[in-house]
Parts: sequence; structure tokens; C-alpha cells
Amino acid sequence: MNKKTIKDIDLKNKKVLVRCDFNVPMDEEKNITDNTRIVAALPTINYLLENNCAIILCSHLGRPKGEVKPEYSLKPIATEISKLLNKEVVMAKDVIGEDAKEKASNLQQGQIMLLENVRYHKEETDNDPEFSKQLASMAEIYVNDAFGAAHRAHSSTAGVAEYLPAVSGFLIEKELEFLGNALNNPERPFVAIMGGAKVSDKIGVIDSLLEKVDTLIIGGGMAYTFFKAQGYEVGNSICEIDKLDLAKQAMEKAKQKGVKLMLPVDTKIGKEFKPDTESKTVDWTEIPEGWEGFDIGEKSIKMFEEEIKKAKTVVWNGPVGLFEFDQFAIGTNSIAKVLSEIEATTIIGGGDSAAAVRKAGLEDKMTHISTGGGASLEFLEGKKLPGIECLQQ
Ligand code: 3PG
Repeated sequence: MNKKTIKDIDLKNKKVLVRCDFNVPMDEEKNITDNTRIVAALPTINYLLENNCAIILCSHLGRPKGEVKPEYSLKPIATEISKLLNKEVVMAKDVIGEDAKEKASNLQQGQIMLLENVRYHKEETDNDPEFSKQLASMAEIYVNDAFGAAHRAHSSTAGVAEYLPAVSGFLIEKELEFLGNALNNPERPFVAIMGGAKVSDKIGVIDSLLEKVDTLIIGGGMAYTFFKAQGYEVGNSICEIDKLDLAKQAMEKAKQKGVKLMLPVDTKIGKEFKPDTESKTVDWTEIPEGWEGFDIGEKSIKMFEEEIKKAKTVVWNGPVGLFEFDQFAIGTNSIAKVLSEIEATTIIGGGDSAAAVRKAGLEDKMTHISTGGGASLEFLEGKKLPGIECLQQ
């Protein structure tokens, strides 16, 4: 990475504003159900503590759309950080208001505070310069460690870098190292596995990966658009009729580039969108009317496993089936399992595929699980991420 990190500047005894991605899932009682993103921010926070910094943390949570909504408060996050570090975390009542400013100005070296949800202000997502300036006014240095939000050009992820020396934290550094190496310097064979519901969400990344990989495996809801593009009926399966051309172009590009593009050869179908719906497995060309494809079938699993076992680098983004329903999670779990067993660099894009790996209890067996869903996708697509671009060279 040609961007400066917290190791490249002198931040001893400084007041530092740290943007993290604490956008974590919670249940109805506001218990955090997966604290991965908070744990992932700790190396940076600990390093700043070692350097005797006064640390002002900030993040968004959900999409409160510029309104103060208590259900989006970051208070449970402050409690969790405090528990993990065994240290007090001062919670501000607002973001750039009187309370936050007073607490920030009184914050001593070695202390930590957390601002309220930055998205309580619509200026945050507007990347409003005055709002960025106000945020910046509380600190001397800006550290961005919010990889999961690095694809957003918001005040706290990018705008604030106009007003303070801006460097990355260790999480962003690590994410860029793993994702960047996989993309630019992969040990071959390099296999990408793309799943998820829509071709339209993934076509950018498919297009870009076709320039880099040896094999591209496509599963998930997306596959049915590829089936339809080849003239076959898909019943009630999810299918983007207006994206058939994109699917055809991707198949054509794979041919031109000599990339092995693999689609499922069979599919597990169900009658209704229900966990216990009647189901059966059919060949990909034989999906009956009234049925819906929810997973890859056993032949496909075997075929994909064989290919994955030959790989030296694998990037996986998106489940290959409706893994939330147990009977349609077999494809996704099988992919996770084979990835956990091979001698290869295995990179899991964030979001659903990361959740699937965790659900299967295999997270320790992967080389890297990204903390960014949309961000890792945009990175793999070759897009520039505003939260990275804004940092010092
Ligand atoms: C995420 O969960 O992908 C990030 O926190 C970004 O959230 P957003 O999509 O609401 O910007």
C-alpha cells in the first residue's frame, strides 16, 4: 500500500480521531450478535493507547438518515469496547454538539471516547465540508480504520481528511494487503467463486475478475439469469430478464480470455420460499414451472469442489444458495468446508459469505475474512475507494 499508516507518523501524545466501522448486527434488545468488526479495530486502538494518544472513536450504525433515533445509538458499542479492553470508554451524547466537543476537549492522553452515530447528521452522508471541519476540530490527527465503509465518500470516511493529517489504521492496511495481493499477485491457479442473488450487483466484479482469474465459479440466484441467457426455463427462480445480455457478455468474455467459467449443472429447487418447503434436485436445464431454485445440487457441489481443490488462491464473494434455510445451505456449507481444507490462500469477501463461514464455525481456517461487504466488492471490482484515496501518500 502506498498510503501512510499509523506507523508512518509521529502520533505520540496526540489527540486522534479514529473512524471505525462499528456497523454491527444487533438483536431486538440491542445485544451485539457479531462483534467481529469491533474486535478487528482493537489492534489500532491498542497501538494508539501504547502511544499515549487521546482517542476519539467514531462510526455509523445502520442508516438513521440524518435523524437522531435512539435505536441507532452507539451506546452498546461503547459498552462492548470497554468490555473488550477492560477500560472506560466515555460515551458522547452527540456527534459535533456541545457534549461531544466538551468531552473531546477534556479527554486526556490514554483515554478513549466514542462519538454518537455520525449518521444522526445528514451532513455526514452529504460529505458536507462544514461538518467535516467540525469533526476535525476535535482532534490533531485523523486515522481511518473503517474498511467496511471505505467505499463511502462521507464526511467521517473521507471529507475530514481535508482538514487533518490522515493515515490508515492496521485494519485497512491488512485488508488492502490481503485483497490486493490476491488480485495483483495471486499464486495460480486462481479461482473466484461468485454467488448472491443478482447479476446486476456482481457484474462489475465478474467483469474485472475475468481479467485475473483462471476459473470463475458462479452460483447463487445469479446462476438462473445465466441459465435463462442460454435459453432455458428457470421456473420461479430469481432471474433478471433485463440482464440476460450482461450474462451472455460475461460468458463471451470468459471464452476470449481463456477463463474456465463454471455454472451449476444441477440445482435444488423448492415449491415455496419457506424453510420446510417441499424440495428436490434437478438438472439445470430441467427446472419445472412453479418451482424455484434455492441451492446448487450435489453434482455441482462435487464439480466445484474438484476445481477448488486444485486452486492456490481463492476469492469467494456471495453464498451459492439460500443458506439461511438449512435445507438450502448445503452448497454454501460445502464450499466453506472445502475452502477450510485446502492448502491455498483463501480470501472471503465480507457480508453473507463471511456470515456463512462463521455460521459453519470455519473462520479460523480461512486466510482472510474481509470486514467489508460492499467495500471488498468495490475493491475487487478495481474501483478506487474514497476512504483510502483521501489518505496521505
Ligand atoms: C456495511 O455494513 O457494509 C458498511 O458498514 C457500510 O454500510 P452502508 O452500506 O450503510 O454504507
